Amino acid sequence: MINSSSNKKINMRHFLELKDFSKEEIIYVLNRAIFIKDKFKKYEPHMPLHDRTLAMIFEKASTRTRVSFEAGIYQMGGCAINLTSNDSQLGRSEPIEDTARVISRMVDIVMIRTFEQERLKRFAAHSRVPVINGLTNEFHPCQILADILTFIEHRGSIENKKVAWIGDANNMSYTWLQAAEILGFTLHISAPNGYKMEKNRIGNISDKILRQFDSPYEACKGVDLVTTDVWTSMGYEEENIIRHKAFSDWCVNSKMMSSANTDALFMHCLPAHRGEEVTNDVLEGPQSVVWDEAENRLHIQKALMEFLLLGKL
Ligand code: CP
Ligand code: NVA
Repeated sequence: MINSSSNKKINMRHFLELKDFSKEEIIYVLNRAIFIKDKFKKYEPHMPLHDRTLAMIFEKASTRTRVSFEAGIYQMGGCAINLTSNDSQLGRSEPIEDTARVISRMVDIVMIRTFEQERLKRFAAHSRVPVINGLTNEFHPCQILADILTFIEHRGSIENKKVAWIGDANNMSYTWLQAAEILGFTLHISAPNGYKMEKNRIGNISDKILRQFDSPYEACKGVDLVTTDVWTSMGYEEENIIRHKAFSDWCVNSKMMSSANTDALFMHCLPAHRGEEVTNDVLEGPQSVVWDEAENRLHIQKALMEFLLLGKL
């Protein structure tokens, strides 16, 4: 593939999970996001993706992902096309492979939010252009990039720090685990029985990277960041009642926050359910950086699209 703006040859890459990128590439994208954000704040145009088209495919609902990708590509000089299962032939059983072959002949880059990671991989295997994971049942890598950017802005490097994940072993926590392995920090996890990380997904991992706790208060002890997510992720709605019973003691409250370091941050990918996975006072409190975290989806994804389309600049 030739990048027309610089005539530089770029090897086509996808971003299907965080570990598709090396540590050095993640750090590049983070630094680039800081540069792009700074220009955005000064109202300086940054339009390296002039005339490029992003197709967004949503098979699940979204607010932040939709707006940040669409605004991001416009701000870089390109445009976006939004497709959902309801208003495309995907909802009428057109195979994902055929959809990939067609769409990727017409656009420059694709972002997909879907169910199984396998479905995303099938799309990517038949795509001529880079594909970005906008959330699957297994991973949410764009969100974790934004979270790490937010941590860096508030506290500096995340290397050798401690992060507590309070709640479900879901797309967010498994992506945090990949981040801990790549960037070198320790992830503390506490979830009720039946909702802990699966052995076959984590393998033999060092306790420098992952430590699991029965008590969420113990998991928060001495950490630099406390983070959580909804008890029921999209696609698991039929488990809602049983999950509400199981997770009732896994609500991040001010007592849990007080067992973390005094300067610990609180993050949540949003949308949040106040009074369930987090109390209103923590979500709205001085340690919470959830609004910066949401905004950073815009900046990090601009850096990500630029990197996938143009390589390192
Ligand atoms: N955090 C996140 O991905 O939000 P949306 O579901 O609104 O896109
Ligand atoms: N784990 C949540 C994240 C939403 C952004 C879900 O998959 O619904």
